[in-house]
Amino acid sequence: MKFKKQVFGFMDMLRFKKLVPNRREALASGPDTPLPKVYRTNQQAERLHPGYMEVELTKIRPLAAGMREFTFRRVDSSAFPFFRAGQYVSLQAKIGDSLASRPYSIVSSPRDALAGRLVLGIEDAGFFSSYMCSQAKEGDRFHMTEPAGEFHYETLRDSRKIVCIAGGSGITPFMSMASAMLDGTEDYEMTLFYGAKDRQHIPYHEELTAMAEKGLKVIYVLSDEQAEGYESGFITRALLEKYADLRSATFFLCGPSAMYQFVQEELKPLGLPIKAVRKDAGSCTDLEISDPGTFSLTVRMRDNVFEIKARENETLLTAMERAGLNAPNKCRAGGCGFCHSKWIKGEFVIAEDRDGRREADKKFGFIHPCVTYPAGDMEIEVPVAY
Ligand code: FES
Repeated sequence: MKFKKQVFGFMDMLRFKKLVPNRREALASGPDTPLPKVYRTNQQAERLHPGYMEVELTKIRPLAAGMREFTFRRVDSSAFPFFRAGQYVSLQAKIGDSLASRPYSIVSSPRDALAGRLVLGIEDAGFFSSYMCSQAKEGDRFHMTEPAGEFHYETLRDSRKIVCIAGGSGITPFMSMASAMLDGTEDYEMTLFYGAKDRQHIPYHEELTAMAEKGLKVIYVLSDEQAEGYESGFITRALLEKYADLRSATFFLCGPSAMYQFVQEELKPLGLPIKAVRKDAGSCTDLEISDPGTFSLTVRMRDNVFEIKARENETLLTAMERAGLNAPNKCRAGGCGFCHSKWIKGEFVIAEDRDGRREADKKFGFIHPCVTYPAGDMEIEVPVAY
């Protein structure tokens, strides 16, 4: 067999021969300063994704419509992570024997977060929210997740003209979105329709009036009162068309499910693409079952095994929280996957339209306890939140 002479192959062999001595030389001539223990990339990742944060409640302020506003700072005095206006955090507190959490949309702006301040608006309704409104006090400490959620403006997906429709405490994410528009953090034109019973039931009325003077378009729609400068009735298509070009807008909806149904019916004749109507997903609640049964739930958490009770009408997450187990969760709506746990045995039911699991999770037996109800005795393996 004959080999053709290849000059470059020969040069490669020479270089290869010198590879190790050259490396030794380069290493010997390098500085002997120790490698950094912390890299800037890691510091930035830690700032943006701190996981669970310990926070202190610094101020409580009453708002209209049975709502209260809560201002927090981080216990280690660092800034809150930057977030997209419209996102939420989940707040966790020890209430009696329970270790409960609830997601709340952030009211304050992303810029406020960098200044170390985060504000939530909470309506006095339900187990956790009532605790916050009636018992939490300034100086109390809580655990809070980093901001999360898909309910925010996205340049590549959404129209620059956004129509936001709020009902009741659903005003909270829009306060943040309006601030982000006015301070230049976000680039969109926002028109806000706010449905309320009467003028007494408009939280953040003063703040919204001040924002309207700076360029936010706000239309109040009162269902039980007629007043000058306010629309009355419901948020119908005709009313929306009076103030906005509906065919070129992206809609953001946040409020009670009855409002979602009503507004979606109103928008139906427009034939809008699915992506044009975005809804903030509410938490999965207890099922309405008269005389619900009680099952046994075995929970494996790291090296511990807990035998607890789970009611037929409550999610596995609620059962674990009631028993004081520190199970991870964020959205409580089946979407974020943060509560992702391994099913071992037992029958269960998943809330309608809430199964956000990937196909692989379904195949390999993973569940989201925040939207899963027991239908018999069960056993699951759950990670520890922190
Ligand atoms: S908490 Fe988000 S999927 Fe369960």
